[in-house]
Amino acid sequence: MAPHEDRIRTAVLISGRGSNMTALIDAASAADYPADICLVISNRPKAAGLDRARDLGVTAIAIDHKNYDDREAFEAALDTALTAAKIDLICCAGFMRVLTPWFTARWEGRIINIHPSLLPKYKGLNTHARAIEAGDRIHGCSVHWVSAELDGGAVIKQISIPIDDNDTPESLAARLLPLELTLYPQALRIVAMAIKN
Ligand code: GRF
Repeated sequence: MAPHEDRIRTAVLISGRGSNMTALIDAASAADYPADICLVISNRPKAAGLDRARDLGVTAIAIDHKNYDDREAFEAALDTALTAAKIDLICCAGFMRVLTPWFTARWEGRIINIHPSLLPKYKGLNTHARAIEAGDRIHGCSVHWVSAELDGGAVIKQISIPIDDNDTPESLAARLLPLELTLYPQALRIVAMAIKN
């Protein structure tokens, strides 16, 4: 068992169901995993992922972006909570707020995200529909460093899947999600080991 004090203290930012968050918490229960999921923060108080995290024994709090006058004020509150928890690394997982350059610069090299496309293709939203509409034969998901450019940071790890002729955005998303849940823990292991060494 890697002693917990040797593990990278990791926070997961969510906005919804938290399926990727759950996969990271499960992976971190392994004896040799180099990261501890210490904190979950949602910008939406009603996010189902908050209760899922608590059920798994992880501290989970809501910092409601609607309670702040602007992005900077919201991010200052986010940063205060992360710093108070002595977080070393942030995993965005279905976190639907665009982060400002102030926050991405402050956490540069210590914040990653999972995005449902083969970056650099299809940054932003509706990635499955865009890949189908473009006639792509391959789609996938990417874990990447977060930078000032939305979904623009260097890719850490990707998984690809074929797009079937009869795929819809929904069927493609459903087939891709289990692979996301495999990819993210693998990518976090790589990043946490790199930060430790
Ligand atoms: C996932 O498809 C993820 O790739 C994207 O948001 C979706 C929801 O993620 N970032 P989760 O179920 O909340 O983890």
